[in-house]
Amino acid sequence: MINVLRERIYNKYKSAIGKSRSSLVTPALIFDLNVAKHNIQLMFERMQEMPAKLRPHIKVQKCIELAKMQIEAGAIGICTATVWEAIVMSNAGIEDVLIANEVVGKEKIKALAEAARCGKLSLAVDNVQNSEDLSNAAREAGSELGILIEVDIGMRKGGVRSAEEALTLAQHLRKLPNLRFLGVQGYEGHCMGEFNRVARMEKVKQAMDYLGEVILKLAKAGFECKIVSCGGTGTFDITGTDSRVTEIQAGTYVFMDKFHVNLVPDFKHSLTVLSTVIIKHGNTVVMDAGRKSIGVDFAMPTMVDYPNYEARGFHEEHALFDVDKSCKLKIGDTVELIPGYTGTTVNFYDAYHVVEDDVVVDIWPVIPRGPGHSGILSS
Ligand SMILES: Cc1ncc(COP(=O)(O)O)c(C=O)c1O
Repeated sequence: MINVLRERIYNKYKSAIGKSRSSLVTPALIFDLNVAKHNIQLMFERMQEMPAKLRPHIKVQKCIELAKMQIEAGAIGICTATVWEAIVMSNAGIEDVLIANEVVGKEKIKALAEAARCGKLSLAVDNVQNSEDLSNAAREAGSELGILIEVDIGMRKGGVRSAEEALTLAQHLRKLPNLRFLGVQGYEGHCMGEFNRVARMEKVKQAMDYLGEVILKLAKAGFECKIVSCGGTGTFDITGTDSRVTEIQAGTYVFMDKFHVNLVPDFKHSLTVLSTVIIKHGNTVVMDAGRKSIGVDFAMPTMVDYPNYEARGFHEEHALFDVDKSCKLKIGDTVELIPGYTGTTVNFYDAYHVVEDDVVVDIWPVIPRGPGHSGILSS
């Protein structure tokens, strides 16, 4: 089913291959392969200096080709946000897939347990009932699920709220068949919004010290955390140096967007949205890429060729910029926009137009999009 979907998408977009990146039907998702290779190589080199390994988060990318590229570049596996992403990646042959999230709901748990018959799958858990549901489903499917206890280290989202809770859950897990306790996950997402590096380092340290206490408590009770999975693009170079952390979950670094570039400026923008100027009046230019085509979460997109203009706003189908006389854009011109946030941007599109030297060389499907289960549940 996934392969049929991939083929359908490829066939729909393949006529773009050979065209220049500026001549596509807009809005279009453009992925610059050589820039992404630079980012992947840079991350590889930076991670070499740290004790932690890289397990890239692919929720942003949703792309088998990209996941494989990162594995080939040295990543130890991948992580996903949803069970559907995990199933797509596991079916595609990615050997070690962590769902860095809780999985709840009968259909989802059943799909996960069945997929775990063919590939190594693990997930985050922060609740006793949920772990029992997972164990029952894995037993019925004849599979095994790896378990990381998620610990809330400051986000107030997923995760047990204390070391005692972590220990109680670990003790419970020990009694449940078909589950294997692997360690802990602590995602310090609340530190990504801290743009001052010194303050960010301090926040990360506090979060990791707290996680360290949990790890110690578990160890004293005989629960060794072989995996301590943390971090993202905005903190990898801080969290990854902590000797208690075994792996880093960064994902956006491959694309880089306007939000993350302020945190780690060495990475370049490989992902853009091609848009067309559809309105021009006086100083106002309007492009056909609004909030339904480009992610504006946490930061506003900018134009690649005119980086100094700030957007006035993004409506559903319109990007609005107020420019001055030095801007030569006219109606019909195409403009590449750098997403404010790449995670939500990619989710709008069926496919990446993969470009090299400004020419489209391939089409890579984005799967799974939206709620994620379309085309996967029935496979
Ligand atoms: C659990 C988890 N890990 C890691 C990340 C980091 O991802 P990125 O590197 O794309 O910021 C996120 C992002 O939301 C996340 O939710």
